[in-house]
Amino acid sequence: MCGIVGAVAHRNVTPILLEGLRRLEYRGYDSAGIAVIAADGSLERVRRPGKLRELEAALESALVEGETGIAHTRWATHGVPSERNAHPHVCRERVAVVHNGIIENHEALRRQLQQKGYEFLSETDTEVVVNQIHDFLEQGFPLLEAVRATVGILEGAYAIGVVSTCEPGRLIAARKGSPLVVGLGESENFVASDVFALVGETQRFVFLEEGDLVELTTESVRVYGKDGGRVERPVHETRLAPDSVERGEYRHYMQKEIHEQPVAVEKTLSGRIHQGKVLSAAFGERAEAAFEHVRAVQIVACGTSYHAGKVARYWFEALAGLPCSVEVASEFRYRRQVVQPGTLFVTISQSGETADTLAALKAAKELGYAHTLAICNVPESSIVRESDSCLMTRAGPEIGVASTKAFTTQLTALLLLVLALGRRHALAAEQEAKIVRELETLPAQIRHVLQLEDEIAAWAELFGEKHHALYLGRGAQYPVAMEGALKLKEISYIHAEAYPAGELKHGPLALIDNEMPVVAVAPNNELLEKLKSNLQEVQARGGELYVFADAEAPIENVPGVRILRVAETDEVVAPIVYSVPLQLLAYHVALIKGTDVDQPRNLAKSVTVE
Ligand code: G6P
Repeated sequence: MCGIVGAVAHRNVTPILLEGLRRLEYRGYDSAGIAVIAADGSLERVRRPGKLRELEAALESALVEGETGIAHTRWATHGVPSERNAHPHVCRERVAVVHNGIIENHEALRRQLQQKGYEFLSETDTEVVVNQIHDFLEQGFPLLEAVRATVGILEGAYAIGVVSTCEPGRLIAARKGSPLVVGLGESENFVASDVFALVGETQRFVFLEEGDLVELTTESVRVYGKDGGRVERPVHETRLAPDSVERGEYRHYMQKEIHEQPVAVEKTLSGRIHQGKVLSAAFGERAEAAFEHVRAVQIVACGTSYHAGKVARYWFEALAGLPCSVEVASEFRYRRQVVQPGTLFVTISQSGETADTLAALKAAKELGYAHTLAICNVPESSIVRESDSCLMTRAGPEIGVASTKAFTTQLTALLLLVLALGRRHALAAEQEAKIVRELETLPAQIRHVLQLEDEIAAWAELFGEKHHALYLGRGAQYPVAMEGALKLKEISYIHAEAYPAGELKHGPLALIDNEMPVVAVAPNNELLEKLKSNLQEVQARGGELYVFADAEAPIENVPGVRILRVAETDEVVAPIVYSVPLQLLAYHVALIKGTDVDQPRNLAKSVTVE
């Protein structure tokens, strides 16, 4: 999704802006650009479609240097990826704007501005912002007031950065619905879409709130709240080291993140379980008090996080005896709800900035849910700040667009929540103790699966020429199959669908032939016998089967069936363990297909627009 960086300093900011864009690359983008106020007071801008290297190459031959500037990576919403549509957008060589979000009333504003003689050179919604600011400057407003007046008439979501030749040395930024942070330096200040962009420059950050407007110079940072008055926002020190987002020895971030899972799960459990129990301190006092009254759970999330919620539903109902519904945020937010008293509202989000999940959370707060709890990986994120309480996953920064360690840590955190709530309902103390023991060995179990990487890579060779794949699972492994299929789609561009194995004969069986690999997740649980008959249905029709099964599972290697044995796993934690081989399969298929694994086409890491 679009990334913003801005800087005002007593040195040339172009390298700072480019480094910031590099660190934002993981969000996904299709063009990039930069604009600075040069020493002679003019506005210098360069934009390029494609990857950042195209912009860097262009900058080698263009002198773009200045002490105030903004830069952007664009993920197209309005208008194709092209130089014309790339940001920064400039009006009459006087104002430049970068924007993340969607301006919903852009058509009406465009018409008004056209009547005033403004020319539009792009198909973007953003261009109305820059032209509108220019119009206010023409009316004699100082830059801060021109931006304030402009955001006052914008509808929709935005994070913007603005510079102008009228006031070199000043950078104005504003946010509503899209993330924006301020980085504090020594006689230099910055803005960016997230802290990663700036950790090379500073560790000190101010997180802007909804409706905030901020004015930055080298010597000051002034924040104005949504009612227009000056406000003080707390300064946070980040613990993220500049190299915490390095790829190290791995070929891709995704591979690194897959291999980080044992440690990430360990960290997520650390200090939260003790002597066979989940500690109440894990959720905080407020949540603990609220848990007493919880009678049902509503989970809302998107993408991979939604799949984590789908797994948790099985746990909530089977272990805790609590009714649980799971819905994708984009559906939930636009549907009329019936809220049962005592329902806990849980959002799951890696980034904590997904626009639909955030909007669903805001809607839920109006709807009378008992308590809102976020399971999230980014402590300073909007979703964490807007929730009554949170349980942080401690996966560390996840850079690969295809989520891996965030997913397994979300599942781990959700299982902690199931136990904490379950002991107030259907879960016996011995059962809790048994699951806690399983959780303690989970990192080792994941390490064991990672050792299967070479065998999985060999399987992946057989997927290179395929165009479709089917994933099957039953029970809590069905959402694991969904997640496996999503991984394959996202990074190898092979069409993949997941089905609960029992549904096979209600449609997908018609697709089976020897061109359709069928991947099955088949741990040795009570559903295995049923799954085996489903697999025979596939085999009888010439389908190629790839089965991930327990070491002890009574399932045999026969022609047309390939089996990969995963060490015997307890049924409750099995969905976490079995997610890992499916991630590895997708990763190795993508390597064979030669795709851009960490930044797959058209996708974004953090979807901050609707
Ligand atoms: C995007 C990402 C996915 C992610 C989803 C939800 O689609 O590419 O990897 O699962 O957003 O993001 P969240 O940050 O809310 O978990």
